[in-house]
Amino acid sequence: MAIIIDGKEIAKKTREKIKEKVLLYREKGIIPTLAVVLVGDNRASMSYVNSKHKACLENEINSIKIELNENTTEEQLIEKIEQLNNDKNIHGILVQLPLPKHINSEIILQKISPNKDVDGFHPINVGNLSVGNAKLIPCTPLGILSLIKSTGEIIEGKNALVIGRSNIVGKPVANLLLQENATVTIAHSKTKNLEQFIENADIIVSCVGIAHFITGENNFKSSAVIIDVGNNYKNDKLVGDVDFDNVKDKVAYISPVPGGVGPMTITMLMQNTLTALEIEK
Ligand code: GUN
Repeated sequence: MAIIIDGKEIAKKTREKIKEKVLLYREKGIIPTLAVVLVGDNRASMSYVNSKHKACLENEINSIKIELNENTTEEQLIEKIEQLNNDKNIHGILVQLPLPKHINSEIILQKISPNKDVDGFHPINVGNLSVGNAKLIPCTPLGILSLIKSTGEIIEGKNALVIGRSNIVGKPVANLLLQENATVTIAHSKTKNLEQFIENADIIVSCVGIAHFITGENNFKSSAVIIDVGNNYKNDKLVGDVDFDNVKDKVAYISPVPGGVGPMTITMLMQNTLTALEIEK
C-alpha cells in the first residue's frame, strides 16, 4: 500500500506559515491584498472565486472580489485591470478564467502587471520560468512540486513523466521538474506507447482531465510517486485521472482526489500574493 500524500494536511501547515508572515506584515502596517476579477456568472468560476476569497480571509489576507457583468467589454475590463495595476495597496491580481467568449483572454492576461500576476500566466512570467528565473509561478504546479518534495524523495536524476501539456499545469510543472534536475518527459494525446513511459517513470504527474485515465492495468515502478491533478466527475463523484483504488498498492506514494493537489492550489495563490508583495516594484 502506497503512502498517501495528504494534500489537506500539507496545505494546512503551509497556510499556518503564510498566516504568520501575513500577520508580521500587518504589524508593520502593510495589508497583503489580492484582487480577484470575475466576469459573468459561470457557476464553477463563482464557486472557485468564493473559495479563494474565503481562504484569503481565513489567513488574514485582504481579498477584494470584483464582479463584473457578462456584458463587460474587453476595453472596460482592461481599464479595470489598469486601475488595479496602479493601485499601490493591491499586491496581487487574478482574472478568473474562462472569460466570456467576446473577450480575448490572451490580451487580458498580458495587461496584468507581471509583478502582480499571482497566476504566473503573463508571457513575461512564463518566459522567466522557462529560463529558470521565475518569481511568480502558476499555483497548481507550485503545489504539485511541494507535494512531491513532501515525500522526501530526491527529484534530481529521476525520470519524471508529465501527462498533459496545458499552459496552466503541464508545461509549467515540466519546467519546474526540469529545474529540479529531473529527466522530464511530457506526454499528451498524440503520444504513442504511453505504457512504456509509465513503466520507466519515477514520478508521474497526471493532468489530462480524463477520469481514471491511469488504471491498475498499467505497470509502474514500485518506487513511483504519483501526483493526480485530475478534477473529473464519474457517476456524479469527483475522481482523479488515476484509478486510485487499483493503483495505490502498486506504487510508493500517491496523492488522492479529493484531498491532494486541490487544497494546495489556493494555498499557493496566497503564497504568490506574498511573493508579489515582496517583489520590488
Ligand atoms: N480557472 C480555473 N483555474 C484557474 C486558475 O488557476 N487561474 C485563473 N485565473 N482562472 C482559473
